[in-house]
Amino acid sequence: MNIIVTGASRGIGYETVKNFAISGNHKIIAVSRNINKLNLLKADCIKLQPNSEVIPISYDLSNENYNDLLKIIETYFTTLDILINNAGYLVPADFIDFDEKEAKQIFEVNFFAPARLIKSLLPFLINSKNAHIVNISSMGGFQGSQKFKGLSYYSASKAAIANLTECLALEFKDDNVSVNCLALGAVQTEMLAQAFPGYKAPLQAIEMAENIVDFALNGNKYYNGKILPVSLSTP
Ligand SMILES: NC(=O)c1ccc[n+]([C@@H]2O[C@H](COP(=O)([O-])OP(=O)(O)OC[C@H]3O[C@@H](n4cnc5c(N)ncnc54)[C@H](OP(=O)(O)O)[C@@H]3O)[C@@H](O)[C@H]2O)c1
Repeated sequence: MNIIVTGASRGIGYETVKNFAISGNHKIIAVSRNINKLNLLKADCIKLQPNSEVIPISYDLSNENYNDLLKIIETYFTTLDILINNAGYLVPADFIDFDEKEAKQIFEVNFFAPARLIKSLLPFLINSKNAHIVNISSMGGFQGSQKFKGLSYYSASKAAIANLTECLALEFKDDNVSVNCLALGAVQTEMLAQAFPGYKAPLQAIEMAENIVDFALNGNKYYNGKILPVSLSTP
């Protein structure tokens, strides 16, 4: 399968690419800004599975225009079977103190970037005839969940991408492009340590990645337009 995972330089995205790579049957484009870490990821994958095909692309997803990114992707893919919008940005601060520029950057990475990427890659996804978009949201953006001080803009951006999932599933139904959203609970990563210093999450990134990969490969047989909580506990 042809797969794109964003936010692949560390944490959940890194482990997700590794998990796809282990089977050796996929071609995986790994996107994030830090090319050194993406190259390490590629090397890690080759160690685990010499036939794995991981293509690192360094790109800032908060760019306004994806034409240059698309040109690179086009050299590898004409079809796209799985898109995992995993890249995320979190700055903790009380709502009243929030710097407006930071608030916009949170929405840029967590909402506009996945929306722009989906729009740009739609022709590739339609070519697949059975594509699956998986948007990675958070329990903070899940209706009715417990909320946390300092995460207002982050949680609101995650609620926005969850809602977009429902809208796009309807719009892309006739093109056989499924769109689902996983609202993750706490996973031990750099982002979690920044948001909740000292908190020990019940899951490691490698464990959550296993679930994301399984869902990306099989979930669209059973779900479309769904926002699914994946949480042992909140946060
Ligand atoms: N960990 C948790 O407990 C938890 C809970 C709920 C939801 N989530 C969600 O799960 C996803 C992964 O989280 P994580 O904990 O693995 O986070 P993480 O360790 O902070 O990793 C975030 C990833 O996003 C990339 N990224 C950030 N800004 C970017 C930009 N402008 N352009 C391109 N890439 C960018 C980073 O790469 P570069 O710095 O190299 O660009 C990095 O690879 C996120 O969407 C997060 O909101 C996590």
